[in-house]
Amino acid sequence: MKHSTENIIELKNLPVHLGVIMDGNGRWAKKRGLPRLAGHRAGMRSVKQIVNSCGEIGIRYLTLYAFSVENWLRPKAEVTGLMRILREYLLKEIDELDGKGVKIVASGRIEDLEKTALKILRDCIKRTQHNQGLVLNLALSYGGRAELTDAIKSLAQDIKSGHVSPDKIDEFVISKHLYHPEIPDPDLIIRTSGEHRLSNFLIWQSAYSEFYFTEVLWPDFDREELLQSLLEFQGRERRFGRV
Ligand code: FPP
Repeated sequence: MKHSTENIIELKNLPVHLGVIMDGNGRWAKKRGLPRLAGHRAGMRSVKQIVNSCGEIGIRYLTLYAFSVENWLRPKAEVTGLMRILREYLLKEIDELDGKGVKIVASGRIEDLEKTALKILRDCIKRTQHNQGLVLNLALSYGGRAELTDAIKSLAQDIKSGHVSPDKIDEFVISKHLYHPEIPDPDLIIRTSGEHRLSNFLIWQSAYSEFYFTEVLWPDFDREELLQSLLEFQGRERRFGRV
């Protein structure tokens, strides 16, 4: 049955924006008696496969929760290792990503990233800014509450300078102050590794998202697992609060 997934996905009924909470790298490594960073490195291979697959299938926007604001509290060696993996991924993959028309953007307090990683990230964003293919949104030093806090600060500035009047504030105005207002809300959010939480990911944008939870650990999440999640999404009826 598994082999047929590729053929039964309806390409017209895909999520426009897919968000992924990539969880379970640490457990994947532990199961194998390996250090946690080996799990993150294996997670990088899943990133490569899922980004490629999303591009091929025709998903327009993919947001990957790669590093949360809370992740700064992990042991220093793990944080340093994750920054190194981010640098490696971007340096190794940029030619292929650019060649395939992928546009890289980032959401989060990216100015807090390690200096070299930030420079490489900015170069990749600039290099791919006019690409027309998959938009790969890397959530880095990202938190949904931090995003709302930053949005409110920027909105407060607009009010102070007289560009926005308080009685004109509505959901649309707030959305316009988020990190990437041009990216539509996620239709589907996948979380791997059996955890059933949002963990501060796209909290404003996920108001009407569908959720897909799988026990599979992120380093084992491959194209077939992605197709399974898309197939389940296609079987759901979305009513957006209506009947
Ligand atoms: C959660 O697993 C995962 C992360 C905190 C980092 C995600 C990073 C990657 C997949 C590496 C590559 C990413 C890019 C964009 C190149 P966990 O460590 O919390 O796992 P655990 O819950 O099993 O401990």
